[in-house]
Amino acid sequence: MIRSWMFVPGDSEKKLEKGLTNPADALILDLEDSVSDDRQEIAREMVRNFLQSHPDRSQQLWVRINPLDNDLSLPDLTAVMPGAPDGIVLPKVYSAKEINLLGHYLDVLEVREGLEPGSTKIVSVATETAASLLTFDTYLDNVSDRLIALTWGGEDLAAALGASDNRHPRTGEYDDPFRLARTMCLATSRAIDVQPVGVVYVDFRDLDGLEQECLRDRQSGFIGKIAIHPAQSEVINRAFTPSEEEIAHARKVVDIFEQNPGLGTVGLDGKMLDMPHLKQARNLLELADRIGRRG
Ligand code: COA
Ligand code: MG
Repeated sequence: MIRSWMFVPGDSEKKLEKGLTNPADALILDLEDSVSDDRQEIAREMVRNFLQSHPDRSQQLWVRINPLDNDLSLPDLTAVMPGAPDGIVLPKVYSAKEINLLGHYLDVLEVREGLEPGSTKIVSVATETAASLLTFDTYLDNVSDRLIALTWGGEDLAAALGASDNRHPRTGEYDDPFRLARTMCLATSRAIDVQPVGVVYVDFRDLDGLEQECLRDRQSGFIGKIAIHPAQSEVINRAFTPSEEEIAHARKVVDIFEQNPGLGTVGLDGKMLDMPHLKQARNLLELADRIGRRG
């Protein structure tokens, strides 16, 4: 289970090297927005070399390519596949059709590179276009098995919607369309059993704010978050790792139901517990187990 994914600009040798010693569970080597057009070819080559020189990985190495409707995307993809990335992050998605199209491209490129068929996974940045807010149902219909996670984006979506800001001027909370994006990302992920990943937290000096947002995301059902700065990964890892107390409580809940077979509802420490609580407790134990196993 990947808790923290860190974006690393693909054209910075220094940041790529720095990524290797970062506690992020996965790095996302970026060929899109953090790379200027005139650096695109340099970045592709740097990312391929980086992947090829790290075949034995303690961290997963992913690549964010350019959007499929951009001419840069196929050259990005063909350039990096010889490095066998663990997966591809696809930005500015309109619908799940593009996930499946990317899946077909990967079918071919894996054969060319002698990689195991289906081994390259996909993460969709699912809410960066206006259309994307209206097409979430397409994910429910035979999406590629390569898709393992959905995340959402508030910055490109603001531009796509013509918004000058994505926050409410008084409360500072995300405005309605962005809350919708977050909710749809979560619900769709859960409906198709992929990982819902929390949005990037752009104010990278505010680690307390990041922690609060991680805890809020986790409470909502998200697992993990994307970092843009090295200091963020540790905060994210901590926030998404169940604590000893949480694990102990979940075990207690599971035990009490196992010791009382046939009971639909029981009391524990003065609180009523029923089937949803049992499910939540089992989910938490499974999450803790998968984080422990990196599964
Ligand atoms: N990956 C790896 N190393 C990074 C890094 C990243 N994402 N962000 C910063 N670093 C390095 C810096 O190079 C610096 O290294 P040094 O101490 O050896 O000089 C160190 O971490 C501290 O960085 P800091 O000075 O605090 O930040 P900065 O002003 O250099 O960089 C950003 C700020 C936002 C430009 C930078 O964090 C960044 O490039 N983030 C990723 C942006 C991105 O990929 N965006 C696309 C997705 S939205
Ligand atoms: Mg972007």
